[in-house]
Amino acid sequence: MIAVENQAPVSENAIPKDASDGFVVPESNAFGQSFRDYEATVRLSIVENTYRLNHINQTYDFVKRTREEYAKLNKAEMSIWEAIELLDSFVDESDPDLEEPQIQHLLQSAEAIRKDYPNEEWMHLTALIHDLGKVLYHSKFGSLPQWAVVGDTHPVGCAFDESIVYHKVFLKTLVNYYFKENPDYNNPAYNTKLGVYSEGCGLENVLLSWGHDDYMYMVAKANGTTLPSAALFTIRYHSFYPLHTEGAYQYLMNEEDRENLKWVQTFNKYDLYSKSSVHIDVEKVKPYYESLIKKYFPEKLRW
Ligand SMILES: [Fe+2]
Ligand SMILES: [Fe+2]
Repeated sequence: MIAVENQAPVSENAIPKDASDGFVVPESNAFGQSFRDYEATVRLSIVENTYRLNHINQTYDFVKRTREEYAKLNKAEMSIWEAIELLDSFVDESDPDLEEPQIQHLLQSAEAIRKDYPNEEWMHLTALIHDLGKVLYHSKFGSLPQWAVVGDTHPVGCAFDESIVYHKVFLKTLVNYYFKENPDYNNPAYNTKLGVYSEGCGLENVLLSWGHDDYMYMVAKANGTTLPSAALFTIRYHSFYPLHTEGAYQYLMNEEDRENLKWVQTFNKYDLYSKSSVHIDVEKVKPYYESLIKKYFPEKLRW
């Protein structure tokens, strides 16, 4: 059981499923390309440029300052569903698989999880809201650039791991490292394996590159959601591919992180899977999700 006081519990019998367990993960998307196949995508240059800027600009100081600013939650007051509607006009340019409107991506992943885990309503709601932090694009939220909203995340304040996407870029015979242009790269306080952290310190104490994941986590937590810690962990780390997919940075985790990691790995399959062309009838499923929102969140949230 992974629950703390005031939070809805994860059922004892809820086990994160393996990809092979009753859920077939397709190997290619609607365009016949492999998921996250950055080389194959026609949008490569936009994707690569977003990561170039991300690697150069996401310093320890930038993340600390930005996190403090958004922790004030003084940008807007709106319900979860209003945030979904606000987000719906955006397309995530860092993501070569995603051409669908955001509301479709949110509902597709939620509905796919609902099918496989009918009794875990907290997972359905987690999927529905996992990307809502992308409201950071909106002028009300400071119109943050792509590199500070979307894309994979990684720790700052310690050395950049080789598993980070675009860590190394090949230009014919040349190898390029965008991280070399990040001021932290040459700072001895930040460029060792542990940097400012200690072994097993827990991800709670680690700063990750700033983006929609951490922001939505902050919003959910500060507004008193009753979602379980597995849900908050999933929202916060769903773009932390170096950890949940590549297995890097494991030495920063504590026991609770290791427990919750299974859920973010389970969730990830649905996040990727749902980036397909199955169209969900919004009006048909809306009452169900409205009821979940009502159960786990206040009517209006501070953002
Ligand atoms: Fe996301
Ligand atoms: Fe997503």
